[in-house]
Order: sequence, then structure tokens, then C-alpha cells
Amino acid sequence: MSKKTVRDIDVKDKKVLVRCDFNVPYDENRVITDNRRIVAALPTIKYLLENNCKVILCSHLGRPKGEVKPEFSLDIVAKELSKLLGQEVKLAGDVVGESAQKLTSEMKNGEVVLLENVRFEPGEEKNDVELSKKFASMAELYVNDAFGTAHRAHSSTTGVAEFLPAVSGFLIEKELKFLGNAIENAEKPFVAIIGGKKVSDKIGPIEALIEKVDTLLIGGAMAYTFFKAMGYNIGDSFCEEDKLDLAKEIMEKAKAKGVKFLLPVDNKIGKEFSADTESKNVSCSEIPDGWEGFDLGEKTIELYSEELKKAKTVIWMGPLGLYEFDQFAVGTNSIAKTLADLDIVKVVGGGDSAAAIEKIGLSDKFTHISTGGSASLEFIEGKKLPGIEALQDK
Ligand code: 3PG
Repeated sequence: MSKKTVRDIDVKDKKVLVRCDFNVPYDENRVITDNRRIVAALPTIKYLLENNCKVILCSHLGRPKGEVKPEFSLDIVAKELSKLLGQEVKLAGDVVGESAQKLTSEMKNGEVVLLENVRFEPGEEKNDVELSKKFASMAELYVNDAFGTAHRAHSSTTGVAEFLPAVSGFLIEKELKFLGNAIENAEKPFVAIIGGKKVSDKIGPIEALIEKVDTLLIGGAMAYTFFKAMGYNIGDSFCEEDKLDLAKEIMEKAKAKGVKFLLPVDNKIGKEFSADTESKNVSCSEIPDGWEGFDLGEKTIELYSEELKKAKTVIWMGPLGLYEFDQFAVGTNSIAKTLADLDIVKVVGGGDSAAAIEKIGLSDKFTHISTGGSASLEFIEGKKLPGIEALQDK
């Protein structure tokens, strides 16, 4: 069932509470290192401003666990937003307290106020009714545009929607459209690339995708759990020993469904977990003891690239190697470059693969890069996301 968006209700001159996901990474000097989630919220904010609204924004940042901790203040977000919007974004001194009430009650049309980190409130993660009512008391409408937090049933993502007319913003609309279409209406051949460290993290999406794709390409450290399950020597590579049966089951399921299930045929291995460790390329069944697999090998990059060139739709979740270290980022970067040149539908879910693509400047070559980490995985898995369920149906 599709959900109403800000376009489907009368927002003109209204006071609107917008839940965003401004949970962005920042360094030890509290400098934001990746502002994509803030940029992604701009279309909804600008639309409301064009409609002469009073815009009250709220978000979490990190996990302060119900306590006021200055290092998790949204001050850095208010600054970045002011810059991006070209107008002042006032930051309230609290979430729903005196400062927030005063600032939001004195707002004029066309102004923007950002509440402090919603997770400073102990009731937020408990979806406390009293807190939800306080959020609702500040506005006439509620807009959820926090796709990255849509899998959480918290006061600011679901509770508040019980007390105000609740619709989605443009980011949630876009995420549902692109992720949903890529999975439900995929033009075939449909290929999924699954990477990342653990099989257990991706089991839900893998099982859902086996029902839909023609080909599954496996990369990242999770490949070694599959190799171990196949009886290969994986040296000192990462392995989820308790997931060997699960790995076997996945391979059997793929076979039974007629899905082409490809694992790397070779790997780039390193002596130790460091950027400049000694490394070499070996076949997947020949990882010596004392060495760890950190990336796809050269033959695998070629093999996977050929598979991708046959595809009409590709969904990619999880980096294919230790992309934080340049010498083990070759697999991830090469596959990103192959995809960048293909004129097909290519969708990326999960925070780490998005970060890897952003790092090499290829983001604009993809059909859609989700702003959701776990939320996008849960969506792909077919789970209902509470933050979206809480919104009005069309
Ligand atoms: C994320 O970064 O995945 C979202 O902002 C959700 O954060 P959380 O896992 O702390 O709820």
C-alpha cells in the first residue's frame, strides 16, 4: 500500500514537524565527514519552505541512550543545514523542553528550527506516549523523511504519528520507489552482489533475493565462511564458525531455485590487518595458514564484471573487500567502475557499499544509493518498517 506524501495533503502555511535521519559520521574534531543524509533531506525541507511552512526538524545522532551528552549535540548538523539551505537554522537547547517550546512557538512562516538530539530523551527509544504527545503538541502536521531510521519504532518515528496527520517526505518516497521497484519489477537478468563481513548480517536479504534474482555474486569477508563450509582451507581469514550449516543451506537453496551462485575464484590475501601489509593473489582453495583473505582476486573481478555486463538490473549490498585500505579496495572499486559504465538499473543498499562508492566519486553513476543501512536491508528482506507503516495510506 503506498503512503501519502507531503504532496498529497495541504501543507500551505502549516507548522510541520519533520523527522529526518541526520545521523551522519563526524571526526574527533566534530567535523561532519559525509553530509549525504543532510543533503538528501533538503528537497522536503525546501518544499515546505516554498509552501510558507514553519519547519521544525528533529533527528537522532549516535546513541546517547536517553542522556544529554554534548558530544552528540546536533549543533554540527544545524550549522551544516544553515549552510546548505542558505538561511539560519536555529537549534533548540533541548528536545521538547522549555527551549524547544519557546523557539517553536515564536517561529514565523519560512523559518526552520532544529530540536536537539531526540535520543537525549529517555522516552524516545521506548516509544513513550507522553513524549510522542509532546512532539505532536509543537506542530499541526508530521512528516517522516528518516528512511535510515524507519526500522525503529520510536517516539519521533512512529509514536508521534498517532497524534498528528502523518505523511512521508520525498526521501522516503524515493527510497520506497527505487528499492521497491528494483526488487519487485526488476528487468531480467537480475543480479545481486552481496558483500560485507558476516553471512549472519545479510541472511534475511540473501534469502529474499534468492527468490527473485538470476545470479548472486558473493564478496567481502563473508565469502570465507562459504569456503570453509565447502571444506577449503581459508588460512587465518575471518569465518563465522557457527554459520557453516547456514552457508551450506544458502548454497543448496540457490541451487534448488536455479540461481547462479558465484563465489570468488581467487582472492587477494594479506599477512596481517594493516594498510601496507605484504599481499598476494591466490586461488580461493589455496589460502595458506598465516594469511587472511582481504579482497577479490584479479580473475574474480573479471568474472564478476562479465556477469554484470549481462544484467539489466543490479542490486548491491556490502563492500567486496577491505575497502578502507587502498590495496584491498581494488575489488570494490573495480566492480563500482564496471557498474558505473553500464546503462542499466543499479541500486545500492547498506551504508558501507554506499560509502565505498562515494569515496571514489561514482555516486552519480548509480540509479539510486540508499541512505538506509539496516533499514534498507530490512526493506529488501521484505520486513515492514514501523516508521513507514505509521504513515497515512494513499
Ligand atoms: C543508521 O545509521 O543506521 C540509522 O541512523 C539508525 O541508527 P541506529 O542503528 O542507532 O538506530
